[in-house]
Amino acid sequence: MDRIHIRGGNRLEGTIPISGAKNAALPLMAASLLTPETLTLSNLPHLQDITTLANLLAQHGVAITMDGDAGKDGHAGRTLSLTATEITNTTAPYELVRRMRASILVLGPLLTRAGRAKVSLPGGCAIGSRPIDLHLKGLASLGAEIELGEGYIQAVAPRRLKGAHIVFPSVSVGATENLLMAAVLAEGETVLEGAAREPEVADLVRCLTSMGARIQGVGTDKLRIQGIDQLGGTRHEVEPDRIETGTYAMAAAITSGALELLGGRLDQIGAVAEALTGAGVKLVETNRGIHASRSDGALTCVDVTTGPFPGFPTDLQAQMTACMATAEGASTITESVFESRFAHVPELTRMGANIKLKGASAMVRGVDRLIGAPVMATDLRASVSLVLAGLAAEGETTISRVYHLDRGYERLEEKLAACGADIERVREKE
Ligand code: UD1
Repeated sequence: MDRIHIRGGNRLEGTIPISGAKNAALPLMAASLLTPETLTLSNLPHLQDITTLANLLAQHGVAITMDGDAGKDGHAGRTLSLTATEITNTTAPYELVRRMRASILVLGPLLTRAGRAKVSLPGGCAIGSRPIDLHLKGLASLGAEIELGEGYIQAVAPRRLKGAHIVFPSVSVGATENLLMAAVLAEGETVLEGAAREPEVADLVRCLTSMGARIQGVGTDKLRIQGIDQLGGTRHEVEPDRIETGTYAMAAAITSGALELLGGRLDQIGAVAEALTGAGVKLVETNRGIHASRSDGALTCVDVTTGPFPGFPTDLQAQMTACMATAEGASTITESVFESRFAHVPELTRMGANIKLKGASAMVRGVDRLIGAPVMATDLRASVSLVLAGLAAEGETTISRVYHLDRGYERLEEKLAACGADIERVREKE
């Protein structure tokens, strides 16, 4: 299994291109199931999760072609054309779904287009229990008959799904996306109240609208959808990855560096920008993206509580914890989106961080320096927080289970090395 070796202490300086957003790309790809015409998506990141979903869609009958390659400098995203002339198979098997939780996003589209779907219950990131009750209740409100058994969700809609007024008791990005995709082809009006306002949902709304869907309320927590009989194809460019933007802004923060994040957008990372500014990081919008820099001296401690958008994203909590581990003073990082998302804490502690867990909060007392160590993590964002810590630490850090990083960060070590990080991937046999 591959490992990443980092010799810490280098100040990062340079330019990092921000890839297309994985979490926007996945629902957009699933939306190809909604139309017999071609959906062409550009600026897709080259990541394992994208390949996993492409494989899943292919076995549902989606013909996929890649248009061109990743651009001559290797930094432009990929373009995929997806055509589901017919849905040939409505089963999403365990073998594929277990690799990625977001596979659940095929449930709504399959059901609304083909009238049935059998989808394995998802596995995915090890960050606490991650139920899918909101997806299932919402689809049931639209008239689906759903049974669970032998590890599968079996859903049928003997007649066309019927619009309904759905009030989410709590915010779920995935359930909002699934219901949105189901509702665009349902009969009549659907209202989704308490919908997620994440930029990835808005990106999906924009794409569906350009496919002919009738949706009001983009960017708000109340989406009103008038179902139509058929959607057409379109071309859509995936928006930049706000989590990658935030992660590299934090790489500049933790190394006293200066990075220009090409394509990064401040409007997507408001709460993160506020926290980083409070910590002493300078963020300036440029005509090419965002410039993130910090002059010498310790970061200032700030408290952070994660929340649905526009709150501080849970997907940047681990990285912020790593930053605060080197800040002056004490900060409290509270996780309010997922039940247990502190897998990075014991590993950061092994690198010399002073962090105590108390319920849903991590009490972080900044230390003068972190010390490199062999570490590993069990999920994507925890892994990248160890990379950030390794960049700042004295000595060598080895991170194993790199496949987690490969699910979410395109050419991570290449992008960091180009800005002066002493980082390399060591390929090892199983
Ligand atoms: C998406 C993102 C993930 C991010 C998360 C929260 C993708 C592919 N993944 O995941 O990176 O961390 O949003 O911003 O876009 N919940 C329920 N019942 C449900 C569904 C969710 O109780 O049916 C709970 C979850 O356990 C969690 C919270 O709601 O505590 C938020 O989860 P949700 O927004 O659904 O996350 P995902 O869509 O899975």
